[in-house]
Amino acid sequence: MASRMGLEIMYEEAKDAIEKASDLRELDQIRIEYLGKKGKITSVLKSLGKLSPEERKEIGLVANKVRQNLETDIAEKQEELSRLEIERRLALESVDITLPGRQPVFGNRHLIAKVIQDITNIFIGLGYKIAEGPEIELDYYNFKALNTPADHPARSLQDTFYIKRESIHPSDNDILLRTHTSPVQIRVMKKQGPPVYIIAPGKAFRRDVPDPTHSPMFHQVEGLAVDKGITFGDLKGTLEEFTRQMFGKDRQIRLRPHFFPFTEPSAEVDVSCAVCRGAGCRICGTGWLEILGAGMVDPNVLMEVGYNPEEVSGFAFGMGVERIAMLMYGVPDIRMFFDNDMRFVKQF
Ligand code: DAH
Repeated sequence: MASRMGLEIMYEEAKDAIEKASDLRELDQIRIEYLGKKGKITSVLKSLGKLSPEERKEIGLVANKVRQNLETDIAEKQEELSRLEIERRLALESVDITLPGRQPVFGNRHLIAKVIQDITNIFIGLGYKIAEGPEIELDYYNFKALNTPADHPARSLQDTFYIKRESIHPSDNDILLRTHTSPVQIRVMKKQGPPVYIIAPGKAFRRDVPDPTHSPMFHQVEGLAVDKGITFGDLKGTLEEFTRQMFGKDRQIRLRPHFFPFTEPSAEVDVSCAVCRGAGCRICGTGWLEILGAGMVDPNVLMEVGYNPEEVSGFAFGMGVERIAMLMYGVPDIRMFFDNDMRFVKQF
């Protein structure tokens, strides 16, 4: 059992060791040796119970004093060593302020986003408002309300991503990924009465195998104008103005008769080739490039949303954004838009 003298010697030894400690790790070893769970001082304090009351009082007092002193000594040394360590590292790790900085990588707008913005800006200039609808849509809005009957080929499993389909017979409540932006027409007209002048950009989905001109996800911009006395001439004039602003003053459009279930009459619209101006060349073949589908809103569609086809009429159109971007910027393959290759994305 330690005596008062023994404790004093122990303290002197510990103090000496603390004094000589050259780093924090060594200092910690000393702390454990004396003050740890099984440390020398701790052991003395633990065994006090075995002593006579007088001895316990004397040795206890001294041992506690030694423990307090050691704790203070160690804390002081710790501070000193930490300071030295920081000074040592600072001396070692000098900063070379002449090194060039790290450049952050700046992103840029995707070409598809840019083309959508260019298209919508033109129509905003003509007084149209932007409308939006969900990408996950009901069969009712995507097909049925757009005068597309249940047996229409566009509703088949081959062309459409259905979310869930319990029966092989199409139902109005089937959930699908919209195959075009046209359902936004229905959603807008069901919410508000005429007049309507809206433009609806967004994604559309079809079960296409990707190739240079097909992608299962692509973008469209839908347009709809319904008002008193709207004619096919208004449609043509609007598309001509759009073409001039989008592609250039000298570009022409050509309307070819076509069929869409939700417009009557319907047309496909071509823009004259920038290279040959409609004469025909290697780029375009015939001199014309198809950019959109359009027509006069079918009376069945107007009635479906509660409009009176005797009072109002309208035109609608839907254009393929990727197609327009490919024509304008000479992009040879639609898949390049979605590969996320920065060498492509950065060019625009
Ligand atoms: N929704 C058609 C498609 O995806 C494009 C279209 C044609 C939209 C005629 C229209 C329209 O609004 O009137 O092929």
